[in-house]
Amino acid sequence: MLNSKQSIVVFGATGQQGGSVAKALLNAGWRVRALVRDPTSAKAITLRDAGAELVQGSYADTNAIQTAMRGAYGVFSVQQSSPSGEVTDEEEVRFGIAIADLAVACGVTHLVYSSGGAVSDRPTGMGHFDSKMRIEAHIRKLPIKATIIRPVAFIDMLVMPGFGLDEGRFNFFMHPEQSIQLLAVEDIGKFVEPIFADPNRFGARTFEIASDTVTGKDLEALFSQAAGRPIAYSRFTDEVLEASPFLASLTALLDEGPLAGHADLNALREINPAMQSVREWLAGTGRDSFVRALGTEGTWAYGRG
Ligand SMILES: NC(=O)c1ccc[n+]([C@@H]2O[C@H](COP(=O)([O-])OP(=O)(O)OC[C@H]3O[C@@H](n4cnc5c(N)ncnc54)[C@H](OP(=O)(O)O)[C@@H]3O)[C@@H](O)[C@H]2O)c1
Repeated sequence: MLNSKQSIVVFGATGQQGGSVAKALLNAGWRVRALVRDPTSAKAITLRDAGAELVQGSYADTNAIQTAMRGAYGVFSVQQSSPSGEVTDEEEVRFGIAIADLAVACGVTHLVYSSGGAVSDRPTGMGHFDSKMRIEAHIRKLPIKATIIRPVAFIDMLVMPGFGLDEGRFNFFMHPEQSIQLLAVEDIGKFVEPIFADPNRFGARTFEIASDTVTGKDLEALFSQAAGRPIAYSRFTDEVLEASPFLASLTALLDEGPLAGHADLNALREINPAMQSVREWLAGTGRDSFVRALGTEGTWAYGRG
C-alpha cells in the first residue's frame, strides 16, 4: 500500500464527484490539489479550509493544469457533460483527453478517470456516454497506470425537482419490478481513495461502481417509510417520454441493459465497507435533501440544455 502523503490533483473538486474524492483523500491523509475556476467561491473556500491546495484555472488552461500536476503522484479526472448545458460532447472529450495527456507529460504515476455506468466499448447513441467511451479509449493507449471507474446513476439525483416527490409520488426509468443500480455520491471518494492507495491491485482496471440495487417498488417502500406517508412509484408515462427524447433514450438504454448497472456489489463492499444503500442514504447524508425535496416543486430541467 502506498504512503498517502503524496499529492493528488482533483478536478471538479467543488462538484459532486471531485468533492467526494477530495474529502476522502484528505480524510486519509493525502495532499490534495484542486483546480478551481474561482478560488473565492464558497465551495472553493470550504475546500481550502479542509486542507486542499487551490490552483486557479479551467479545463482549457494548460498552464494552470501543468502547475497543478507538477510533482503530483496522482490525478482524479472528471468532466461535466452535455446534459448539464455547460459543455458540448466535443468539449467533454477534448478536456478529458487533454487532462490525461497532460498527466502523462507531467510524469504523473496514477490516473483515475471517472467515466459513466452505461459506457462500454460499444456506442450507446447518447452523446454524454459516447464521449466517455472515446476518452476511455484514448486513456487506455497512454503510457500511464490508469484506473477507469464507471459510476452508475447517483442516488443524490433522485431528489432533484421534477421526479414528483413534492406531489407525493416518484417517477423514474424502471418498470415497478425492474431494477437499477444506484450510487451515493459520498461513496465515490471512498472507492477512489483505496484505488490510489493500492495501484498494484487497481491500476489498469476498468469497473463500474455502485452502492445499491433497487426496483421501482423498492423505492416506493423506501420513500414512503422515509416520508412517513405513501409515495407511489410509477415509470415515466408515455406522454413524458414522448415529450423528452433525452428521457426516452435513457429509458431505452435501461431496458436494453447498459443503464441498469452491472457492478459487483460484493467486490465493491470489500473496497468500501461503508458503501450506502438507498435506505442508509435516506436515513443519513441524504435525509435533509430528501425532506427538502418533499416540499420543492419544479421540473426536471437536466438534459434539456
Ligand atoms: N448524475 C449522475 O447520476 C451521473 C452518474 C455517473 C456519471 N455522471 C457524470 O458525472 C459528470 C459530472 O460530475 P459531477 O456531477 O461531479 O459534476 P458537478 O457536480 O456538476 O461539478 C462540476 C465540477 O466541474 C467544475 N468545472 C466545470 N467546468 C469547468 C471548467 N471549464 N474548468 C474547470 N472546472 C470546471 C466545476 O467547478 P466550478 O465550481 O468552477 O463550477 C465543478 O467543480 C458528468 O460527466 C456526468 O455525465 C453523472
